[in-house]
Amino acid sequence: MSLPTHRRDWKRTRATELLGLAHPIIQGPFGSGLSSLDLAAAVSGAGGLGSFGAQHLGPQQIAQLVADLHARIDGVFNVNLWVSTHDVPEDDFDDAAWSAAVARLQPLYDEVGIEPPARPQPAAYTFDVLADALIDAGPPVFSFVYGVPDPEILERCRAAGIVTVGTAITVEEAVALDEAGVDAIVASGFEAGGHRVAFLREAEDSLTGTMSLVPAVVAEVEAPVIAAGGIVTGRQVVAALTLGAEAVQIGTAFLATAQSGITAEHRAALSSGARRTRLTRVLSGRLARGLAADVMYDIETGDERIAPYPYQGWLMKPIVAAAAAQGRRDLVAFWAGQSAPLVRPGRDAAELVATLVQEADELLAK
Ligand SMILES: Cc1cc2nc3c(=O)[nH]c(=O)nc-3n(C[C@H](O)[C@H](O)[C@H](O)COP(=O)(O)O)c2cc1C
Repeated sequence: MSLPTHRRDWKRTRATELLGLAHPIIQGPFGSGLSSLDLAAAVSGAGGLGSFGAQHLGPQQIAQLVADLHARIDGVFNVNLWVSTHDVPEDDFDDAAWSAAVARLQPLYDEVGIEPPARPQPAAYTFDVLADALIDAGPPVFSFVYGVPDPEILERCRAAGIVTVGTAITVEEAVALDEAGVDAIVASGFEAGGHRVAFLREAEDSLTGTMSLVPAVVAEVEAPVIAAGGIVTGRQVVAALTLGAEAVQIGTAFLATAQSGITAEHRAALSSGARRTRLTRVLSGRLARGLAADVMYDIETGDERIAPYPYQGWLMKPIVAAAAAQGRRDLVAFWAGQSAPLVRPGRDAAELVATLVQEADELLAK
């Protein structure tokens, strides 16, 4: 009896061919400064795909980032942007809306003893401007969330030989990415840490677990599918490939490694077997998963009390920073996915790649 292809050589898939990887293991990008050159270099050096979340950077910083990644990595790496950067145009979120949002959060500013922030200047760069800068800089792989880039952007990538990877959290989103000609599609189940990157419906109406989402997406799209959400062990890697994925994207487990950009407190929380995670809009205005904290419950009495993205994030940032400095765990979000309890503490990122490969090899040899 012949074994399924991935059993004979589970490391050779259309995704590993496309991306030029030794192992079908992708380190998920982290936005807001939690990615690091060391992490991306360690994962790419170990035969996986190292990623860097660049959503918070400007065009010149993106050019420098790609130059730095090229200098550190003798192979492929991925840089990630967010297609949709605002839920409401900055002109529509006026001073009155800002003041009302500040007033709603005033009890928290008082609690940590700080003044509310002034309204920031409008963000200078749209996705299209950042994407242009990224394509000019020439990363091997460009991944994105929260939408489908315009055809011209995808065409520029194709012409420049940059592999594109889009992210879907529903089958409909996966089909939209596939029809646009995106090279590979991340199917991200609701177990995942960080934001629920919905772009066709509200995130709350787009919650599907990895076990259901991955085979449904595989059945509907031509592009190779990359499974994300809840994958921390070799057993889960094998499960994702069995569901039809051709690679896995892992966030929380790499976030916990020595090389990521998280704080010592965040790393300790991830290493302590923390079990309870929660989806909340409180921290940024968009739905995201992190370890449950009181702040996620206290304000969450109705959507109308939470400002849209990114304004809620701008308002919460100083509260979270002050709370962290004061050692207040109740007001801090430690981003994590539902498999956080399976995270093995104290890992080096390259060692994690090797462990996952070894575990998958052993399971498939049985
Ligand atoms: C703190 C944090 C930040 C993230 N930022 C991004 C991002 O900017 N872009 C992106 O494509 N994915 C982002 N993700 C998603 C991860 O890349 C990955 O797909 C996800 O964490 C996989 O689920 P897991 O955490 O269960 O492994 C983020 C995840 C976390 C935990």
